Amino acid sequence: MKILVTGGAGYIGSHTCVQLIDKGWQPVILDSLVNSKVSVLDRIESITGHRPPFIKGDVRDADLLSKLLSEHSVEAVIHFAGLKAVGESVAQPLRYYDNNVHGSVVLMQAMQKCAVKTLVFSSSATVYGHAFAPPWNEQVPTAPANPYGRSKLMVDQIMGDMAAADAACSMTSLRYFNPVGAHASGLMGEDPQGTPNNLMPYLAQVAVGRLEALQIYGTDYDTPDGTGVRDYIHVTDLAQGHIAALAYAHGQPGHHVFNLGSGQGHSVMDMLKAFGKACGRELPYTLSPRRPGDVAAYWANPQHARNTLGWHAEKSIDDMCQDTWRWQSSNPNGYL
Ligand code: NAD
Ligand code: WQD
Repeated sequence: MKILVTGGAGYIGSHTCVQLIDKGWQPVILDSLVNSKVSVLDRIESITGHRPPFIKGDVRDADLLSKLLSEHSVEAVIHFAGLKAVGESVAQPLRYYDNNVHGSVVLMQAMQKCAVKTLVFSSSATVYGHAFAPPWNEQVPTAPANPYGRSKLMVDQIMGDMAAADAACSMTSLRYFNPVGAHASGLMGEDPQGTPNNLMPYLAQVAVGRLEALQIYGTDYDTPDGTGVRDYIHVTDLAQGHIAALAYAHGQPGHHVFNLGSGQGHSVMDMLKAFGKACGRELPYTLSPRRPGDVAAYWANPQHARNTLGWHAEKSIDDMCQDTWRWQSSNPNGYL
């Protein structure tokens, strides 16, 4: 099967391309490189022995998309391309709606024109309302708290409308919890531009000496150790979830929504300790006030994916930290 992978040069997309190739499927990558480097293709090739076709371009380019879908005889699309920084989305909402929502509409229009019926989309647990006690299943009411989250929910809703309008459409929204980790080879991993916003890449840069100390945002939450609790999922488990979702959804019309998480919550302190163990030294940290907009604790109920896709996350937080450390220590400045 030939699969268009938008945003395939990015963190989750590149790991998913490796597993698509392992399965014998053929990814075709479209990426504008707004948040990634083309050298990731060398890494995909080193790991798999195969270099997928790469097109530098934007999902909002309707002509390019139609050309790609038909010239490559694409049968399904995995749509990772999007902007993902919550704070940036608050400051630049139109940029986020244009890129994430308009980009997805242009993609679906091109798919409709070229009769490509299967779409798997990177949604997020951030679409859920924060007032609900975890674990969160797919029925938790949606109430995203920022433009980024709203852009994800809008696309989910448009996909639902498309599935209702066309009985042959298969639309799958995958709601990721907190993706972390790296490929076990150490050749691929997360490479944020500038100072990382997220816990795991921040820890990795402290460990490698690029940053001084982790600031723990909030130590007075109603959690076992007072620090925030999240559902961390290894990026290769997440990539495997896409393979399972695509295998299920291709030829299965409707709007399918799945949580992809481990089903377990871990605190900031748990992650700090696990990373210290992985890199062989205690990492420096400071205690800071809560970060505005953060919630105390949430994690997934991933039963629907387990029951329907036969998929579940297998890797532990020790695996996540060890693999991240292998990636960061062998690529201290990320991709070149
Ligand atoms: P990433 O930034 O590493 O990858 C996204 C890729 O999309 C990048 O390579 C970027 O260059 C490309 N891109 C962005 N806009 C584009 C456009 N208009 N046209 C073409 N390419 C474009 O991010 P990631 O962590 O791999 O996330 C992938 C997807 O998963 C995103 O849609 C993100 O919102 C979603 N998601 C991520 C997380 C997370 O914590 N990483 C959690 C939930 C959902
Ligand atoms: C995790 C925990 C922080 C950094 C974000 C997005 C969400 C989704 C995943 C895309 C929290 C604490 C963090 C630091 C810290 N992305 N922390 N010091 O906020 O759960 O989710 O990424 O869809 O939409 O909001 O992830 O990694 O930023 O934070 O103490 O320097 O680590 O307070 O408890 P978050 P995170």
